[in-house]
Amino acid sequence: MSTIVLIGAQWGDEGKGKVTDFLAQQADMVVRYQGGNNAGHTVVVDDRVFKLHLIPSGILYGQKQCLIGNGVVIDPAVLLEEMDNLDKQGVSTNHLRISPRAHVIFPYHKSIDQAEEEYKGNSKIGTTNRGIGPAYADKASRVGIRMVDLLDQEELEEKLRYAVEIKNKMLAGVYESTERIDYGQVLEEYTGYAKRLEKYVADVSVLVNEAIDQGQKVLFEGAQGTLLDLDHGTYPYVTSSHPIAATACTGAGLGPTKINKVVGVAKAYITRVGEGPFPTELHDDLGSLIRERGHEFGTTTGRPRRCGWYDAVIARYAARINGLSYLAVTKLDVLSGLDTLKICVGYRDNDEIITEFPASLKKMANYEPVYKEFPGWQEDISGVTDFSQLPPNARDYIKHLEELSRVPVAIVGVGPGRKQTLVLKELF
Ligand code: GDP
Ligand code: IMO
Ligand code: MG
Repeated sequence: MSTIVLIGAQWGDEGKGKVTDFLAQQADMVVRYQGGNNAGHTVVVDDRVFKLHLIPSGILYGQKQCLIGNGVVIDPAVLLEEMDNLDKQGVSTNHLRISPRAHVIFPYHKSIDQAEEEYKGNSKIGTTNRGIGPAYADKASRVGIRMVDLLDQEELEEKLRYAVEIKNKMLAGVYESTERIDYGQVLEEYTGYAKRLEKYVADVSVLVNEAIDQGQKVLFEGAQGTLLDLDHGTYPYVTSSHPIAATACTGAGLGPTKINKVVGVAKAYITRVGEGPFPTELHDDLGSLIRERGHEFGTTTGRPRRCGWYDAVIARYAARINGLSYLAVTKLDVLSGLDTLKICVGYRDNDEIITEFPASLKKMANYEPVYKEFPGWQEDISGVTDFSQLPPNARDYIKHLEELSRVPVAIVGVGPGRKQTLVLKELF
């Protein structure tokens, strides 16, 4: 049995797409199990850049089984566009399968996402406006429409009629929006999507469990990150799913005894898109320098990402919540050329030092990060192919990061390319 769950250990965009693509070389199957097209996973293969939102990052190999589990919310228009784009680039999607239990995003989810953000004004979450929150809310309220319903015209008509009626009332009455959803138009559009997607729908739980039982290597590709988790993140500035390791089980339909390893992907610094607290955020020129050097602009929305120092309190929190076996540390190359590097080891609250990530955002707002400083290195490390070739200060930085996070580092990224990956420990 060989299964790895890969999750984001920070606020998303840690480089999960790149690390998934790298580990997928050895995998037979890659599975997405939560989130939707709020995710933007970049994979660079030679001089080609792929930006994946819904399709697992293993798709680029052509022969790997790529599954979208029941825990994902699917915008069929985005999925089909992504499939078509891959097709145009010569990448086959024949091995893609979609769970019939996955919920579908409709235009009213996007309208309500946007209307709710506008209504909130200054207290907005800064969502991706992809309808993710409203789609998960419908799922929890038991009025969602699943892939299996999309394929059944009678079910679709009945459920969609109800949904459109309620959502139009919400748009008009609650959000005072002039926008209205046209039932007939949506029905026609989604009936078309159903026809195209039907052949890809298959029981993902059965496929995953069979693969595991046959000894195949299965990689679960998380979206978002631990601090965007609905329960464990910086609520309410979170997404509406659970981007933690346990969700691989609920979101793909398998039991916790089937998971071997959990890998947390973390940048050598930290970024966040959207609103919400961020203790180590750099508001100065250094923050801008890291943003420029690291090309820290959202893959999905293009928004500039907020940048800050690596936070070991967050790393230890992610290790605990996810039961991390290893860390994959990305973007070490971005820190080249800095004289001094800092890692946050705790937060100061008046005379007290806090070492556990807090639940209260109000308290967090008053925390001052406590840093340990380390000497930087000047060399360009993007061509390094073995950990031992890194400048001594870069190796030491990783060693300190590992000690302070209390998780062994298995992978270090020194560039976006598949080959710019240093392996300290084989994972499959
Ligand atoms: P994801 O959402 O976690 O998959 O991450 P994104 O793709 O949104 O953002 C990560 C960005 O960093 C992408 O542009 C990657 O190509 C890039 N990247 C990943 N690993 C590395 C690395 O080790 N070094 C550099 N310079 N870029 C990296
Ligand atoms: P990947 O998989 C970074 C953030 C949004 C917003 C909050 C809620 O690429 O790491 P939502 O649209 O989910 O309701 O927005 O979550 N967010 C992400 N930030 N990476 C992501 O995905 C994200 N997906 C959502 O910016 O703050
Ligand atoms: Mg991303």
